[in-house]
Amino acid sequence: MSLPHGFLDELRSRISLSDVVGRKVQWDLRKSNQAKGDMWAPCPFHQEKTASFHVDENKGFYFCFGCQAKGDAIGFVRETENVNFIEAVEILAAEVGLPMPEFDPKSKEKSARNKILIEIMEQSANFFRLTLNSKQGKHALDYLHKRGLNSAVIKHFEIGFAPPDQTILTQKLIDKGYEIDSIIESGMSARSDDGNRYYDRFRGRVMFPIRDGRGRCIAFGGRSLDPAARAKYLNSPETPLFDKGRTLYNLAGARSAVGRAEPLIVTEGYMDVIALHSGNFSGAIAPLGTAITEHQLQSMWRISPEPIIALDGDKAGLRAAYRLIDLSLPLLKTGQALRFSLMPEGKDPDDLIRNKGSSFFKNLIEEAIPMVDLIWKRETDGKSFDSPERRALLDKSINDVIALIKENNLRNHYKDALFQARRQFFGKQFIGKTGFKNTSTVMPQIDTKASFLVSVDEKTASAQIRESTIVAVLIRFPELIEIFYDQLIMIDLVTPDCDLVLKELIKLDPNSTVKIKDQVNQKISSDKVDKLLGLSHLKILPCLRLKGTREMGQQTLKEELAKLNSERGLSIEVDEINNIPPEEWHERDFSRLGMANNAKQRTVSSVQEDTINYEQAQNGLNINREERLKLDEIRSSISFNKKKN
Ligand code: UTP
Ligand code: MN
Repeated sequence: MSLPHGFLDELRSRISLSDVVGRKVQWDLRKSNQAKGDMWAPCPFHQEKTASFHVDENKGFYFCFGCQAKGDAIGFVRETENVNFIEAVEILAAEVGLPMPEFDPKSKEKSARNKILIEIMEQSANFFRLTLNSKQGKHALDYLHKRGLNSAVIKHFEIGFAPPDQTILTQKLIDKGYEIDSIIESGMSARSDDGNRYYDRFRGRVMFPIRDGRGRCIAFGGRSLDPAARAKYLNSPETPLFDKGRTLYNLAGARSAVGRAEPLIVTEGYMDVIALHSGNFSGAIAPLGTAITEHQLQSMWRISPEPIIALDGDKAGLRAAYRLIDLSLPLLKTGQALRFSLMPEGKDPDDLIRNKGSSFFKNLIEEAIPMVDLIWKRETDGKSFDSPERRALLDKSINDVIALIKENNLRNHYKDALFQARRQFFGKQFIGKTGFKNTSTVMPQIDTKASFLVSVDEKTASAQIRESTIVAVLIRFPELIEIFYDQLIMIDLVTPDCDLVLKELIKLDPNSTVKIKDQVNQKISSDKVDKLLGLSHLKILPCLRLKGTREMGQQTLKEELAKLNSERGLSIEVDEINNIPPEEWHERDFSRLGMANNAKQRTVSSVQEDTINYEQAQNGLNINREERLKLDEIRSSISFNKKKN
């Protein structure tokens, strides 16, 4: 579907991006320069206290230096209102009084039809609400009160009651002038099997209006008051307004709560969302009785970088969590994660809030575990690993899980975490389950994880040299931040000061008139920066000296980042091998390590080479003497084990 030429330009020229954005953010007026159309605010797309979200009114673009959200006014409305492109255009056009072009008679028809359907839904919501407060709704209201809902919450969620009558709503809607075909299309009435009669879809049920991101009523959920009813909950059917897999209950309410720094909590049902709201957790949402879809997941991430999944504490809840893991693994990114809060056995969030109170629930939420822990639980729970075959199977399943993650850096971190868990777990398991008392002689382990090729101190020292070089070059040539931006946002430096400064550097505004070094100094104590820049190895770095040029800086940075990456590659390989019990070591692991090490040797002009005694291992791997001895020791104990078995 295309808009006529020039329409979007006309629209853009009429709207003010800072007006559109200004409704959703609190401008940082000290940082902003209104006259120049240069506006800053805490970002509405991720949680933060500082203002990294920048609007360039003249260019009509926004960009967040924290989460990299970017776009124009249409994009902003799409993201914040959770609507599609055309809907966003419609919203903005209506706002500036620009009539929508009649480019597509079909879509005009559609939007006219949807308008009627929405009217029908709103009329119905109104009717249910009135009924709840009438004599007919008394027992339903009592039921809600008994479930702990006060009048304010009932009003907030616009809960209503559908009387048990067969056709009362249908009749009312017809009286108001709506055609029966529209009423049926809205899902509020259904045709009898013979096709001659109509009846209300919802009868004798407590009614929960379901609203879309724009606040329009698009569907209902109805809870039966009769425990013997065939369906406890009945939802609207799919209609032109309602796509179950794309809708989340209370999305708009949760979005504004998250804007007030509340956590986004994903529950299973309406009543959980409502109970949480009564318990002062307003950031709760729920799918509509189906498994969470990719679309829903993306909507959640648009609101919060780390929604907390609070599923029921039963088998079904855990299964739902596991399914969600599989769905989300390929979509994970830095800043797009999930946490899981496990409810106690047999409880749902509604039970907990009502019986144990908000502070109990708050603790649960604070203790929510990262997804990686739940993955570990899934792969190991109730399983035994008392044979090499079974342990190999576990490795395979862990590797399969990790392989689903697309983002390199994150995948490596998952690998790290899972193999570390594996190592700790087997430490315990062998003692507990193999029956061998003196496991340490059966299974020699290298005790310091980082010790394999480079000692800890050497590792830290060389990291500090490398990392401070990177930071210093960036401070001297801030233009390079943009050039290397993609790489810079991916690295975590191990030297705390360097990491701190780097994190600030990538958040800085490249267009600002304030010099980068001054901007850094505003954020970080200048002591720290001076101390960093004063490190002796930096004083002799050519690109940092008086005659240093940006090109030299760029070259240095490129090399340093490459070295850092290949070093990281090596330390991940080494960690991984350390995590595999030596009796399971395989020639393949050595050659992998050899490859990683060669890559390191190619890039690292190592200071340690002079001082450490390297030897060549059989597979061509450079290895220092001390480690070589350790390795020999391990190898001989492996052959000892083999003989024993
Ligand atoms: P639950 O059975 O966990 O609902 O179903 P609940 O919220 O705890 O219900 P209460 O506390 O007994 O009132 C969770 C969600 O699954 C959908 C609904 O969306 C419900 O909120 N559901 C459940 C249905 O669609 N149909 C059903 O028959 C049951
Ligand atoms: Mn419940």
